[in-house]
Amino acid sequence: MGFLGALPRLLLFERGGVEKLPDIISELGLGGSCMLVTGRKFARSSGYLDKLRGLLESAGVSKVIIFDRVEPNPSAGIIDDGGRIAAEHGIDFLVGFGGGSALDTAKGIAVVATGGGSITNYFYPVEVKHSTLPIIAIPTTCGTGSEVTKYAVISHGCRKDVVLGNGLVPIAAMLDAEVLRYLPKEVLAHTAFDALSHAIESYFHVRSNELTQMFSAEAMRTILENFMQAYDGDLDRREKLLYASMVAGLAINFSGAVVVHGLGYYLTEKYNVPHGLANALFLPQLIEYSLEKMPGKLTMLCSKLGMASDDPYACARMILQKLDELHRYAGLPSSLCEIGVPETELEKLVDEGLSYRRNIESCIVPPNREDVERMVRSAFKGAYA
Ligand SMILES: [Fe+2]
Repeated sequence: MGFLGALPRLLLFERGGVEKLPDIISELGLGGSCMLVTGRKFARSSGYLDKLRGLLESAGVSKVIIFDRVEPNPSAGIIDDGGRIAAEHGIDFLVGFGGGSALDTAKGIAVVATGGGSITNYFYPVEVKHSTLPIIAIPTTCGTGSEVTKYAVISHGCRKDVVLGNGLVPIAAMLDAEVLRYLPKEVLAHTAFDALSHAIESYFHVRSNELTQMFSAEAMRTILENFMQAYDGDLDRREKLLYASMVAGLAINFSGAVVVHGLGYYLTEKYNVPHGLANALFLPQLIEYSLEKMPGKLTMLCSKLGMASDDPYACARMILQKLDELHRYAGLPSSLCEIGVPETELEKLVDEGLSYRRNIESCIVPPNREDVERMVRSAFKGAYA
């Protein structure tokens, strides 16, 4: 076993913890100018924008620049603009407040502001090595785990590209479940399925190890136990999902996502399917694939989840049943046909899925074209039925 990875220097998990922003800034020795990166609506309408600005001012920050142009699936253009503005203002650190898009935008800005050029210059297989601006990440959804990861996913020309490097790991992550009070049910369901995907995919990643497997199992168990009540609005359960998404983020930070993410990206870029839902539509296919090609890993996952069985078929059935229950409870569409993807797209989906080589090749048993085609065919019909 061996691994190398970075973690945030400070990790705060506390209800109402956002109020501690000045303490975090002081403990990290940050100061000077700050760029607050967030979306256009939620931060403003919920009052958090004013609150954060006030907290930054009370921490002695001399200048606060608001960058509220975050969009779902952040584009390279917006990140480049943010990077240029941050460099012009001599920004010293960033606060990212929002879902994965806001946190990934902050990461992209931190890279461009320090390294120059366009974020497209840093797309994988390049690895960001230069020292970037520190980021304090405050997630407002319970899915991406971006607050603890080295990844930023950027939309560029109908594709999702990844920027990665240990320097992208936020210097501090502040997880305050209070913000989840406002999270719409549908977004909660989508983001929870994103976290579930991270936990499950990480398990079948070539860099999966004892540490990441512990994170995967803990995240999965927590999501499966708390999803329904969290969906119904129970804040204590939503807090558990926030915890689980962070833990799943820790899993992929040391390993990564595999074929489910690779297949989902095209649905998001072409059909605007939310990232977590796109993953949800391919998750059962990964379980079926693991049953066929990685049965030992599947039974090990089952036993870590407390569903002990030596029979991989029984394990697959148990996990699929659980996923199905959650999926139905949230009334999520269960097939590609249901979300309006025409079957003529089959070949394109296969090609696009295979084009994310990093996701395909990092699977313990990499799926070949035939395997991926079978997964896509199955997703058209829907394995949740
Ligand atoms: Fe994801």
